[in-house]
Amino acid sequence: MTEILKADPQTIAQAASLIREGGLVAFGTETVYGLGALATSDAAVARIFAAKQRPRFNPLISHFASAEAAFAHVETTPLAQRLADAFWPGPLTMILPRNAHSDICDLATAGLPTIALRVPRGKTALALLREVGQPVAAPSANPSGRVSPSDAFHVLRNMHGHIDAILDSGPCSVGLESTVIDLSREVPFLLRPGGVTLEQLEAVCGTIRNPDDYATKLPASPGMLASHYAPALPVRLNAETAAPDEALLAFGPAPAGAGLVYNLSENADLEEAAARLFAGLRFLDSEGHRRGLRAIAVMAVPRHGLGLAIRDRLRRAASPRPMSGGDGDDEVESM
Ligand code: TXA
Ligand code: MG
Repeated sequence: MTEILKADPQTIAQAASLIREGGLVAFGTETVYGLGALATSDAAVARIFAAKQRPRFNPLISHFASAEAAFAHVETTPLAQRLADAFWPGPLTMILPRNAHSDICDLATAGLPTIALRVPRGKTALALLREVGQPVAAPSANPSGRVSPSDAFHVLRNMHGHIDAILDSGPCSVGLESTVIDLSREVPFLLRPGGVTLEQLEAVCGTIRNPDDYATKLPASPGMLASHYAPALPVRLNAETAAPDEALLAFGPAPAGAGLVYNLSENADLEEAAARLFAGLRFLDSEGHRRGLRAIAVMAVPRHGLGLAIRDRLRRAASPRPMSGGDGDDEVESM
C-alpha cells in the first residue's frame, strides 16, 4: 500500500518516522521528486534499488538539512565551503571523499570512496530532513532510465504499490535535477548540469572541466550513461517543425500547422522551460501514443544558463536505448 500524504507538519512527521523505520517515501524537492530511505541502512537503501530497478553500481545522493550535517561525512575543502555558502540550500550536489566517521552505507555510495551530498531548499524536503535527523538517500523517483518526476502524480503513476508513501508538496519549482560537481579531483568537474548554472558555478569556482566533453567520453559518473529520460516514443532533436506523424516539443514561437504541441516556453524563458520539461515529455509521450504518432520532435534550446541542463536531458532522451521495446523497467542504465 502506498499512502498519499498531502504535505503538512503532521504528514511530514509521519513520513519521517516511516523513513526512520526503514521505509521508502517519495518526497518533493525544488528539483524533482526523490525516493527517500535511510542512507545509513543497507536494507532500506536496497529497497530503493529494487523499486527503481536501478543497477547497484550507480550511487545515490545523500540529503541533509544543513551543510554542517552534510560535511560531517566527508573531507571537506575551502572550495566546498564556499559553494555551500553560495548555493545551499539549493539545487547543487557535491562529490567529496568520505571520511572515517561516516556511517553512510556502502550500497548508497556503490562502494566508492566518495559521497554525493545535497542540501535541498524545498520547504517540505528540508522539514522532512530535519525531522528524520539522519542522512536520507534519494535518487529521482522514476523507474531507472525513464523521465524524472516533477510532480507527485508522476510518482504515483510509476511507483504506486512499490513504495510506502508519497509526500505531495505540489509541482517542483526548478523541475530539473541538481547540478552535480565532483570536488574530489584536482580540478572541479561538472558531472551533470542542473538547477545551478555553469555560469553561477564558475563565478565561485573559476575553472571547471568542460561539461560538453562527456557527450563523447566514457561516463565520469556511474549514472551518466548515454540513454536516460527516455519516453516510450523516439525523440528527434533540433527540429524546426514537426512531421505529420510527430508531436512537437516547442521552445519559443512554435511553427504554424503542427498538430500536437507542448510549448516549454512561448517567451523562450529558460527557467519556465526547465520547470515544464519533464511534464511536457510525459504529456507528448502519452498523448502522442494515444494518437498513433511515431515520434517527438524537439526544437533547439540555447546553450547558456539552464539551457545547458535542458539540452543534456534532451540529448539523453534522444539517445539510442540499451534495449528495445518494453516499458523500460529492465533497461540497464540510469541516473
Ligand atoms: O535533484 C536531484 O539531484 C535529485 C533530488 C531527488 O535530490 N536526485 C537525483 O538523484 O537526481 P539521481 O540518483 O537520480 O542522480 C544522482 C546522480 C547519478 O548520476 C549518480 O551516478 C551520481 O549522481 N552520483 C551519486 N554519487 C556519486 C559519486 N559518489 N560519484 C559520482 N557520481 C555520483
Ligand atoms: Mg535520476
